[in-house]
Amino acid sequence: MSVPILEVVDVHAAYGRIEVLRGVDLRVPRGSVMALLGPNGGGKSTLLKVISGQMEVTSGDVHLGGVNVSGAKPAELARLGLCTIPEGRSVFPNLTVEENLLLMSYAGVPAEQVLETAFGYFPRLEQRRDQLAGTMSGGEQQMLAMSRALASDPALLLLDELSMGLAPLIVEELYETVGQIAQSGVSILCIEQFAKTALAVSDYAAVMVGGRVIASGEPDEINESMADVMLGGAA
Ligand SMILES: Nc1ncnc2c1ncn2[C@@H]1O[C@H](COP(=O)(O)OP(=O)(O)O)[C@@H](O)[C@H]1O
Ligand SMILES: [Mg+2]
Repeated sequence: MSVPILEVVDVHAAYGRIEVLRGVDLRVPRGSVMALLGPNGGGKSTLLKVISGQMEVTSGDVHLGGVNVSGAKPAELARLGLCTIPEGRSVFPNLTVEENLLLMSYAGVPAEQVLETAFGYFPRLEQRRDQLAGTMSGGEQQMLAMSRALASDPALLLLDELSMGLAPLIVEELYETVGQIAQSGVSILCIEQFAKTALAVSDYAAVMVGGRVIASGEPDEINESMADVMLGGAA
C-alpha cells in the first residue's frame, strides 16, 4: 500500500484539563475523499485544528504524505500542500469578491489565473466580482472560501462543515464542486453533518464519537453499520 496522504496516530488533545481527543487514529489514502461524520461535540473540528497546526497535541503524531508534521506551524503545512477551510465563512467581508480572490493568489500563481479558476468553477462569483463579500449570501461566501482551495491546488484539502446554515440545494451544489476538485487529484477530508450529501462524493467515511474514530470504511459499510450514530446529525 502506498503512503497515505494523511495519517493520524493515537492523537490526544485537550482544552485546558479537559481531554477532547482521546486516541484518534485515522488514515486518508492518497487521492481519496473521506467524509468525517458524527454527532456534535465528537471532536471533529478539534481534530481539524490539530491537523492544520492550530492546536497542539498532548500525545500522538500526525503525518502528511509520510512526513511527521506534529508541531509544525500552519505556514509550514501550507508549503507541504495542506489547505484548510475552517468552520464558518472564511472570507473578508469588507473586501470585494475580486479583492478576496487577489489576496488568495499564491506565490507563483498569477492573479489572472486565480480569478479564471474561481470564475470557471463559480460563474456567480464573476457576476459579483465588485460586490463586498459580506453582502453576498452564505452559499456565495462559501464558494468564495472554496476558491482559495482551488487557487492553491493543494495536496490535501480539509473542509469543516461547508453546509453550515445553508439551504440543501446550495449544499448539493457545493458538494458537486468538491467532487470536481477531487477529480483533479486533490485528496480531501470533509467534516459534514449532511451525511448523505458528503457520502455521495466520498470514497471512504469515518465516524467520530467521544473523541475517537469508532468506525471507518467504505460509505456503504458506514451507512449500514452506523445508521444510529448518524441519525444523531442531519442525515
Ligand atoms: N475552544 C474550546 N474550549 C473548550 N472546549 C471546547 C472548545 N472547542 C470545543 N470544545 C469542546 O470540545 C468538544 C469537541 O468539540 P468539537 O471538536 O467542536 O466537536 P465537533 O466538531 O465534532 O462538533 C466539545 O465537548 C466542545 O464543547
Ligand atoms: Mg465541528
